[in-house]
Amino acid sequence: MKTQQTPGSVRRMPLIAAATGATPSRRPIWFMRQAGRSLPEYRAIRADRGMLESCFDADLLAEITLQPVRRHGVDAAILFSDIVVPLRAAGIDLDIVAGTGPVIASPVRDRGAVEAIPRLIPGEVGSIATGIGTILGELPEDTALIGFAGAPFTLASYLVEGGPSRTYERTKALMHGDPQIWERLLAALADITITFLRVQLDAGVHAVQLFDSWAGALSLADYRRFVAPQTRRVLAEVAEYGRPRIHFGVGTGELLHEMGAVGADVVGVDWRIPLDDAARRVGPGKALQGNIDPSILSAPWEVVEAEVRRVLAEGEAAVAAGATGHIVNLGHGVLPSTDPDVLTRIVELVHTA
Ligand code: CP3
Repeated sequence: MKTQQTPGSVRRMPLIAAATGATPSRRPIWFMRQAGRSLPEYRAIRADRGMLESCFDADLLAEITLQPVRRHGVDAAILFSDIVVPLRAAGIDLDIVAGTGPVIASPVRDRGAVEAIPRLIPGEVGSIATGIGTILGELPEDTALIGFAGAPFTLASYLVEGGPSRTYERTKALMHGDPQIWERLLAALADITITFLRVQLDAGVHAVQLFDSWAGALSLADYRRFVAPQTRRVLAEVAEYGRPRIHFGVGTGELLHEMGAVGADVVGVDWRIPLDDAARRVGPGKALQGNIDPSILSAPWEVVEAEVRRVLAEGEAAVAAGATGHIVNLGHGVLPSTDPDVLTRIVELVHTA
């Protein structure tokens, strides 16, 4: 068993305290997609390098992960990577195309393709473990490092559709048309996700976030039947590390209870639902993360400030309604057009409010 005693210095990190039901020394905040195109220093370092190439270069991924910590003073770094990185590492032919997202060379739509999905061997993501070691050596002592992976459903949606989708038509056709093959597909992806998360946890990340970004496309009944079992397995397989497991999706208002019940310690909420309402839906005993509307960050500062104060007040109401803590974040990722100075100002506001 890997069950480890979490050192006091880690338990006292504001993000870890808020995620584990303790009282943080200040309100923790970080931003999904904080390492990326909103930062000029990111654009400069990526100017002559591909996205995937950067994700497998230990020095580069460490540097990009640290950039937003230095600039904004956020309470967590999130590993610079992508949800398709472990699929690529395992040998699936895919690329990340600027402005589009992941594109799969041969979409997975039948039994043969599902059976050909490789397993991930830890050594195939060895450079990422090396990069994590570098990051841990450089992070301020109160700043947590969050590792992450894509949840089986969101990964499956890219593999089946061949790229991003608005309707998930082929994914749902496979799920309902051949539930047995669907289950095998999700199980194979869960295996890859478990291995990738374990590599990151073994390398020392302080928390993990499981992104089921597109789960909100599903009905509650479909989520329960076709998605929850393998997501539950992923979260259970990393429970022994005793480190917070954050679970996030977009448009998941009707799924929030299930997304907590599959084994999350922290449930991510987008901007569509007030945090106190989300706390009642999730039920007691879990912390919440969110939910500043990323599109509002381009409005005048007074508007941004009001949005941040709304989130802080609703975060307090969420705790009164049974949530064990609140981690301030956006309801989805930073948009590339966001002025990074606005992000820095939000961090200052949250830390001093
Ligand atoms: O700062 C961070 O949050 C860490 C880095 C991170 C990236 N991808 C880097 C990235 C994280 C956590 C992800 C996760 C990810 N990737 C998700 C789940 C989070 C979410 O947004 O819901 C998803 C669905 C993907 C798949 C993906 N990769 C998409 C939809 C895109 C955007 C396509 C585009 O160009 O607009 C990517 C590419 C990607 N991942 C970029 C970055 C920095 C942009 C690539 C570039 O800079 O050229």
